[in-house]
Formats: sequence, structure tokens, C-alpha cells
Amino acid sequence: MKLDCRLMAIANLVRKDKAFADIGTDHAYLPVYLVEKGIIQRAIAADLRVGPLENARDAVVSYRFTEQIELRLSDGLDNFKENEVDEIAVAGMGGLLISQFIERTGWLKNENIHLILQPMTHVEELRKTIFDNGFIVDKEVVAEDDDKLYIVLSAYYYGDATAYTELDLIVGKLPHNDDSLSKKYLEKIYDKYNKKLIALKNAGKQCTELEQLVGELKQWQ
Ligand SMILES: C[S@@+](CC[C@H](N)C(=O)[O-])C[C@H]1O[C@@H](n2cnc3c(N)ncnc32)[C@H](O)[C@@H]1O
Repeated sequence: MKLDCRLMAIANLVRKDKAFADIGTDHAYLPVYLVEKGIIQRAIAADLRVGPLENARDAVVSYRFTEQIELRLSDGLDNFKENEVDEIAVAGMGGLLISQFIERTGWLKNENIHLILQPMTHVEELRKTIFDNGFIVDKEVVAEDDDKLYIVLSAYYYGDATAYTELDLIVGKLPHNDDSLSKKYLEKIYDKYNKKLIALKNAGKQCTELEQLVGELKQWQ
């Protein structure tokens, strides 16, 4: 199984020999890869819909991993029991949907559970949900496929809600990284907010807070 850079960035964060779940698995690329490489021994590949689970079944059968990879219909983690899994990937979905999974799955609040989250949208809102619910982000990675940048967050339950600023929600841990893709992502964020600022200024609008934010984002350019 060959993964694209986005899925590989997720796979690289998976701890060895954990009970793994892939939520919204579609073709089960991630669990198949992890079992094939011997990183995990067993996995649950879950999806909301039958069609994607059929795609997953095709991959699992063709790689002969039916003993190791269970297929499960589940809306988020709703059809999982506490203590079934401790390594959980949720990738390729919107940040708001991933936030809902976190908020309604109380048993995720366990220090032994590792969440690997790859939101396609609303990364700031997802960071806010993570912090407000007592999780910490220990690592963030940027991956690139076909000129698109993707953020992957690694999070653990910590207990206390983390204090954060608007800037923390926007840049996350990327300023701590020393790689070119994180720098590229920070440039992209700066451009986005700077364009917004220019447009507001041109429209004669007051924008002190945005001006300050853009000033702060400039430090990583
Ligand atoms: C774009 S695919 C991502 C597949 C794979 N995780 C990846 O990142 O390449 C999104 C998958 O999430 C599934 N999905 C959407 N909503 C879901 C939910 N509420 N619970 C579980 N899976 C869901 C879809 O059926 C689809 O298979």
C-alpha cells in the first residue's frame, strides 16, 4: 500500500502496537498500510456509509487482512465502546464535524488516548474545541499533495482547558516547527489575513484588531 503525503503524515504519528481506529476510513488505506508495515496489529476501519465501507472491504480482502481489520458502520465514534481503541485517526473531514465527534464522545477524555486529526476546513475551530475540552496539541505537521497544504494535529487529553489567544488558534504549533511546509503554511495564513486587511482598509473600514493580528503574523514571514 502506497500512501499519499497527507496520509503518510498521519501514519507517521501513529504509535506502535496500539489499538487503532480510522474514522471515515473510505478505502481503508491507512489501516491497511499500518498493518502491512507492522506498526499496528489490529484496527477498526469505520465509516458512516455502506459504500465507503465496501471500498474498505475490497482493500482489506485484497490484502488478506480480514483477521486484523474489522469494518464498522459508525457515525463518528458513536458505535465504539470505551477502551476498544486508544489510537484514533480522523482524516479528510471538516473541522466542525471532527469537533462534534470530540464533543459528544466523553470517553475520549482519557490520557491514554491519542487523537490524530486532519481537518480539511475550520482548523481554527477544531483547535478551539480541542483546547476548550481539556486536550493539548503536542505536535502539528503540514503535508503537501498536489500543491495543497494539509494540517495534521496530534492531541492528548490533559484535563485542564488550555488558555489560548486568537493567534494560537490561527497558527497552532506551526511557528515551533522548523520545516519548509510549516513556513509555507504560515505564509499562506499571512497572505489571507493581509488581503482581508487591505480590502477593509480600501473600503474605509476601521480594522485595528485585524491590523494587530497581521502585524503578529508578519514575524514568521
Ligand atoms: C473524504 S473521505 C476521507 C477518507 C480518508 N479518511 C482520507 O482521509 O483519505 C471522508 C469519509 O468520511 C466519511 N464520513 C463522513 N461523515 C462521517 C461521519 N459522521 N462518521 C464517520 N464517517 C463519516 C465519508 O463517508 C467518507 O468515506
